[in-house]
Amino acid sequence: MKLTRRQVLAGLVGLGVAGFGAGGVRYWLGRPENAASHDYELIAAPLDLELVPGHKTPAWAYGGQAPGLELRCRQGERLRVRFINKLEVSTTIHWHGIRLPLEMDGVPYVSQLPVLPGEYFDYDFITPDAGSYWYHPHTASSEQLGRGLVGPLIVEEREPSGFVHERTLCLKSWHVDEQGAFTDFSVPREAAREGTRGRLSSINGVSLPTLELPAGQVVRLRLINVDSTITYRLNLPGAESRIYALDGNPVAPRPLGKDYWLGPGMRLDLALRVPAAGTELSLRNGPLRLATLKSVASAQAAGDWPPALPANPVAEPDLSQAETLRFNFEWAALLASPNQAGPARYWQINGQAWDIDDKACADRPIATLKKDGHYIFVLRNMAQYQHPIHLHGMTFKVLDSDRRDIVPYFTDTYLLGKNETARIAFVADNPGVWMFHCHVIDHMETGLMAAIAVV
Ligand code: C2O
Ligand code: CU
Ligand code: CU
Repeated sequence: MKLTRRQVLAGLVGLGVAGFGAGGVRYWLGRPENAASHDYELIAAPLDLELVPGHKTPAWAYGGQAPGLELRCRQGERLRVRFINKLEVSTTIHWHGIRLPLEMDGVPYVSQLPVLPGEYFDYDFITPDAGSYWYHPHTASSEQLGRGLVGPLIVEEREPSGFVHERTLCLKSWHVDEQGAFTDFSVPREAAREGTRGRLSSINGVSLPTLELPAGQVVRLRLINVDSTITYRLNLPGAESRIYALDGNPVAPRPLGKDYWLGPGMRLDLALRVPAAGTELSLRNGPLRLATLKSVASAQAAGDWPPALPANPVAEPDLSQAETLRFNFEWAALLASPNQAGPARYWQINGQAWDIDDKACADRPIATLKKDGHYIFVLRNMAQYQHPIHLHGMTFKVLDSDRRDIVPYFTDTYLLGKNETARIAFVADNPGVWMFHCHVIDHMETGLMAAIAVV
């Protein structure tokens, strides 16, 4: 395909007003008659954060905050973001989970050319599905996501959902030391295992925050795992809470249960009935506290559980006519030699390690699907580390697993456990070359990324 020409920033009218102070620049124009060219102007730029009290961390931020500015739009409408790169490195934005045209998918050399320092790129697409999504670069990912280039994208339901209160919680563990300095985003011996973990957990950029919630109300918590490595085992002891959506897609509401494993890239929309004023709940990762949820008095009448969210318009795969393809995810010990030239390759899909810097990647997809064909993918994890397997451009249905009971549901990322085999299915209704990868960034950058062509 022909890549969109890069747009150079210099000399453009109006950019003089663009600053990136607290809160960033937000243009939410509400679609006036004489609509300007974009709804948001989103700047990526360096920003010092105080993650560790009294110390500075040289982060990179979208819209003057890390995690980035929350972008919002409504289902079925256009989202137009003028993205301005004020970093010293080239980058792109990928819209995780959004079904959009390939030119807007943010994969360098496949979707678009990298946005060089000082350039801008206009992203413009329709958001067909409501739910909790997020955005991040798709280049030099361990450093760029590690430094804070991650942000929430909320697509509101067409009609009011019944939720009156909501909070977005972006979960990230920063790779910083006790003085707030960055530590290595990727360490080879970790990349060959579960991935390199950051040590400072945070929600919306704050370590161990206390979040105030209105007593008696039902609040929608949009939990987004923007971390590069960690699978959070989310639990809320003592709380009355129900799962309403997984990875943007509604499910029949059900209790949270003991814990929910939220892998990198995944989202959980959890409704919480906030207890009496003064009560404190602990949102935890396994036994570790991530945040305190504190109930404060509310003048409003007590809320009730909203009905299930309406399904997104995702095509239903027909299993009786589907073709089955198999994908084995394995650890590639033989390739782990430190002496070999080029990037480290610790992981393989069907015996191939993907080279993330290979600009010809789109020319050798791991599978070529027929447009509008129905497909079942058998995903087999041959390793003892889990892999959140993510597909761009299309939403798939999780059918079953040999390790757990699955109520079939639609998603863009499936957490494939140790030695698990799971089946997913979808209609290949979006033409293009789509990345198919593990969302543990270390794994993706050392082999676990392939391209799926739909022609
Ligand atoms: Cu969050 Cu290639 O994606
Ligand atoms: Cu994605
Ligand atoms: Cu992985």
